[in-house]
Amino acid sequence: MQGVTVVDHPLVQHKLTLMRDKERSTKGFRQLLNEIGMLLCYEVTRDLPIERIQIETPMTTMEGAQIAGKKLVLAPILRAGVGFLDGMLTLVPAARVAHIGLYRDPESLQAVEYYFKAPSDLADRMVLVLDPMLATANSAVAAIERLKERGAKDLRFVCLLAAPEGIERLRSAHPDVHIWTAAIDERLNDHGYIVPGLGDAGDRMYGTR
Ligand code: PRP
Ligand code: URA
Repeated sequence: MQGVTVVDHPLVQHKLTLMRDKERSTKGFRQLLNEIGMLLCYEVTRDLPIERIQIETPMTTMEGAQIAGKKLVLAPILRAGVGFLDGMLTLVPAARVAHIGLYRDPESLQAVEYYFKAPSDLADRMVLVLDPMLATANSAVAAIERLKERGAKDLRFVCLLAAPEGIERLRSAHPDVHIWTAAIDERLNDHGYIVPGLGDAGDRMYGTR
């Protein structure tokens, strides 16, 4: 599928199956989301530009590689997107963080914003938008619009599960934003939930149901 990368690494797929299990505890769900966050971060940063620098080892001088350009911005969509954050910050500890507070109105399924705080220089940075669930894509489209209004030009979207409907909507609203996901599920149900899915990611992560 154009503009979409499915991360089919066995570790990701194994952990995702554990997360889907309705008997998984809140603690287990959160831990697995954190671990998959790390693995997805590894994949989504695979093509970051590298520059050569001169360093001295205890033995000699050599040319080493380092990531070029400004630090990344990780932009979790609250609440569930925060589940990816710790794992990704473990791998990219100097990243900046933009918090985007959105919830989905249960009737209209439209995204309602309640918080937004981002670094001021988004135009100069790559922004990874994080949310485990891409269902209707209303939340992802709204978050990306908001980041673009604030200057972001180079964005990537990272999720755990995507519905075909959500991929189509996000790709048509923001064709410049590539999507990384661990799986593409069958469909949305009448309430906008992903099937087979894993239920409500925020509730499962925080134990709020
Ligand atoms: C969930 C999920 C996404 C959104 C996806 O959040 O974490 O943000 O729904 O659905 P969409 O693609 O149809 O917009 P929710 O609104 O339940 O908020 P929460 O994370 O605070 O529970
Ligand atoms: N949000 C969730 O948390 N789960 C879904 O299946 C759809 C939206």
